[in-house]
Amino acid sequence: MDRTAVRITLFTSLLLCAASGQAGKEQDVDIYSFHINSTVTSRYAITVITSRVANRLNESKEIHFEVKIPKNAFISKFRMTIEEKTYDGVVKKKEEAQQQYSDAVSRGESAGMISSVGRTLEEFKTSVTVAALSKVTFELTYEELLQRRHGKYDLLINAQPMQPVADFKIDVYIHESPGISFLEVKGGLNTKDLTNAVTTTRSVKEAWVNFYPTRDQQSSCDVCGKQGMNGDLIITYDVERPKPSGELRASDGYFVHYFAPTDVERIPKNVVFVIDRSGSMSGKKIQQTREALLKILGDVAEDDYFGLITFDSKIEVWRPELVQATDSNLKSAKNFVKEITDRGATDINAAVLKGVEMINRHQREGSASILILLTDGAPNTGVSHPPRIQANVKEAIGGKFPLYCLGFGFDVNYDFLEKMALENSGRAFRIYEDSDADLQLQGFYKTVAVPLLIDVNLNYPGAANLTQSVFRYYYNGSEIVVAGQITDNSLESFQTEVVAISKNDKVTYQESVIMKELDGALSENENVIQRLWAYLTVKQLLEKEMTLGGQEKDAVKEEALKLSLQYQFVTPLTSMVVTKPQGEKTQIADKPKEGEKIEASSRLAYSRPSSRRNQPSGGSWIIPLLANHPGPQLLLESASEVQSVQNSYVPESPQTSSVQRSGDSSGRRRSRIRQMSPGRVHGLMGQGDVQNSYVPESPQSSSVQRSGDSSGRRRSRIRPMSKSFGPLPHPTNPSAARRHRKPRLRTLPSVVGARFLISDNSQPKPLCYDLPPNPKLRLLKDPPSDFSMNGKLTLTGFKRIIIHYGTKHQLNLSSVYIQYTYDLNTEIFAWGQTSTKHGADSVSLILSDNELDVTMGTVRVVFFRHKKDGEWFLWPAVQQQPNNANAEGIFGKNNLQYEELPGSMIKINNVEVKATWSSANDYRRSPAPALGCWLVPYQIILGGNISNFTVSRL
Ligand SMILES: *[C@@H]1O[C@H](CO)[C@@H](O)[C@H](O)[C@H]1NC(C)=O
Ligand SMILES: *[C@@H]1O[C@H](CO)[C@@H](O)[C@H](O)[C@H]1NC(C)=O
Ligand SMILES: *[C@@H]1O[C@H](CO)[C@@H](O)[C@H](O)[C@H]1NC(C)=O
Ligand SMILES: *[C@@H]1O[C@H](CO)[C@@H](O)[C@H](O)[C@H]1NC(C)=O
Ligand SMILES: *[C@@H]1O[C@H](CO)[C@@H](O)[C@H](O)[C@H]1NC(C)=O
Repeated sequence: MDRTAVRITLFTSLLLCAASGQAGKEQDVDIYSFHINSTVTSRYAITVITSRVANRLNESKEIHFEVKIPKNAFISKFRMTIEEKTYDGVVKKKEEAQQQYSDAVSRGESAGMISSVGRTLEEFKTSVTVAALSKVTFELTYEELLQRRHGKYDLLINAQPMQPVADFKIDVYIHESPGISFLEVKGGLNTKDLTNAVTTTRSVKEAWVNFYPTRDQQSSCDVCGKQGMNGDLIITYDVERPKPSGELRASDGYFVHYFAPTDVERIPKNVVFVIDRSGSMSGKKIQQTREALLKILGDVAEDDYFGLITFDSKIEVWRPELVQATDSNLKSAKNFVKEITDRGATDINAAVLKGVEMINRHQREGSASILILLTDGAPNTGVSHPPRIQANVKEAIGGKFPLYCLGFGFDVNYDFLEKMALENSGRAFRIYEDSDADLQLQGFYKTVAVPLLIDVNLNYPGAANLTQSVFRYYYNGSEIVVAGQITDNSLESFQTEVVAISKNDKVTYQESVIMKELDGALSENENVIQRLWAYLTVKQLLEKEMTLGGQEKDAVKEEALKLSLQYQFVTPLTSMVVTKPQGEKTQIADKPKEGEKIEASSRLAYSRPSSRRNQPSGGSWIIPLLANHPGPQLLLESASEVQSVQNSYVPESPQTSSVQRSGDSSGRRRSRIRQMSPGRVHGLMGQGDVQNSYVPESPQSSSVQRSGDSSGRRRSRIRPMSKSFGPLPHPTNPSAARRHRKPRLRTLPSVVGARFLISDNSQPKPLCYDLPPNPKLRLLKDPPSDFSMNGKLTLTGFKRIIIHYGTKHQLNLSSVYIQYTYDLNTEIFAWGQTSTKHGADSVSLILSDNELDVTMGTVRVVFFRHKKDGEWFLWPAVQQQPNNANAEGIFGKNNLQYEELPGSMIKINNVEVKATWSSANDYRRSPAPALGCWLVPYQIILGGNISNFTVSRL
């Protein structure tokens, strides 16, 4: 109680000072830096949150650190640094930690340190007393294996630093060896006002997503407030699957195999829904259940058979037998569903057994049976002793098909449902009582809607200590992951064999990979595969433990504990002991169990942000199909929309589809199709340029699409179209005809110069161009905010860069020093130092070694100092474009989209040029990675000659 009171007091004071202080004024408790760095290697994500806080008061102060992490993740490290002294959290066996620090436990401090908030997240919080005018750095690391659902992976990053932070950034790096097939940035934070703060760079196998909102934006954006940002960034992607046999990675004696073939026909299913209609379902729950069932019935394939059972203390079947999903049967089932109303008690035992019996009576060759139980309460009539029900159900099912248990709300006995599901090769999911409960139900159904393989057995002759390697079903859109240890490292090759039953027959996938090729790829994070193996093993052991008893249970628990300790994972079996400076009490962090009610104290902590506008839900751990998660359902609808609008072409591959999703301020997403005739394209080439001088007939027709948003902000995109087109446009459709105007071919001499990269969200291959040296180049100019940046370019990079901002600010960079002038006062910094400066008019300079992060009003640019052949040079990375569609200069053009044509031809803005496959160093980060890129003449990218980009003085 006392603690809570303290927290609220502190919080109120923060609020007050945020409200009264102007931008740029330092707060008493100043979070001056907040970084989130996430590295994903082969789906294994390791995320580090670093928060640096200063106590600006002349008295000591308790400083809080509170962050949210995905429930699915394990915390693996926590460190506090105060006055050069570090305090590391240590993971210990839970009972041991609790005994050792029993006073901490009795104070209730173990319960609160990590608590469940919402559907997807857990909150980690701690605090420490910091002396007057001192600083503290908190660093938290967590790890998780991203799971494929609905054909994609979601990396969810929650950002809620508790106040606007001058040096705030999220850096995400993804490395997927088979290649990244698509990547999108979504979530509550990727709203209209913040789009300019997100930059995405992709190569075939790698992607970088950087989110650098300025301090001002953090208090003015839709999901922001006085306390700064509060929301999620979700990076959604999938990988290429060139081999049906799957993807194999190995390193350091461990391997992981990802298996998700797509070349398989769907297997018809027999599905029975067992629906609770007990009294507690009354009202919204039963209504949402009806709505979800109606939608689900709308999706059942014609060769599926299905059954419906509703239950309270009595069992009612819609039809005594499973029936085929014909139109008339579905119609009649829907009528039945519409009539489902709530009544009596909850006889789960009889209902589930009835479902099992129906499926058992309906044996069908080449089909997959699934039983789905939806309930919101605990069994309370008939056989109501949970272990008895579990035993009955297990015996009746006899391992023949999976049972999925959906627990609606928090009054369910979730443990019981989970055990029962796991014992029958299914899973349990929670359906949260919320306005989107029907979407959650549909989202769940979608994960099991399309079985592709049955009885999947994965074998690895040269390996041991495998994670689960036998799976009842493999569903479309999911992925089977098996990891293990390689027993014989002297083997020349590593073999995988997958045997399964497909719709028509038995299938075998075999693969033999040369060991040398397997290693190597992961030079940086050598032990990632090992950690992945440990993570997966612990997760599965914890599940297995639930279904066992006696000695077996103890053995499995022991094994999970051993690995948790070895890898320092905070799991339900371990605790992290956080020791603090002298005089402060040790704290203990325990991972909450799924299904635990949200603690009153954490509910309080959580209610703070939710008082803000537009609290983003962050999506569901179970089903990422919420308001800010457009799911495949939506995508399908949009796809058909595309077809009706543009039925004149057939996209070749999903990547070239022209569906563009964009968010709007309400966080909802819409699919839009935007088109413009080439005559109206003004962006880079200028109107006249595009319309003149088309070369004679070329077989490729063009289709240019350009999108902007209503605010007129520049997001000019030329949507990539498919390489070939289906039927020709209808001659009587003039707009279609205009769209298919022939492009112009340009040939330009190549130049020698510094090489620039242009990144693009949707294209895995960046463009690059060489720009000849020039002493006075316009880099970026934004007249409305009076910002301009010019530079001197040599063959390697920039030697000099000068920023003018307003009439009073000037920043002058050379490769030796940094000179900042404000109103005739000049300060000089040297590269290699660490220094921070916050000035008037939302100016901030953060220097760290060879990186200078500069914010001037609405623009944020990070300058890197690089060295090549012994020579230093500078390179700017514009992380936050001005809010202006007409920003000028060579960095004013962003996010250019292009189309690849056969014969190394590239089409940009309806101009075709010969491109050369080349490479460039991405100097917008450090160290600069080398990326493959299409080299094109700079004139095409910049839309003018170098003379158009020169200024009279720097
Ligand atoms: C992020 O973490 C990775 C792996 O630890 C590290 O190599 C990289 O330098 C970090 N990036 C930043 C921007 O701190
Ligand atoms: C703290 O600062 C205030 C105002 O700057 C001053 O009045 C006060 O004496 C200081 N207290 C201590 C303990 O130095
Ligand atoms: C599996 O899902 C993908 C989309 O994620 C779809 O293109 C494909 O047709 C589906 N396969 C089957 C057999 O339904
Ligand atoms: C598998 O695990 C056991 C115990 O956890 C260990 O003793 C054994 O060495 C491991 N096997 C291999 C091949 O490393
Ligand atoms: C580039 O400069 C030339 C000559 O000054 C001018 O004619 C042309 O319109 C400019 N092009 C653009 C795109 O501004």
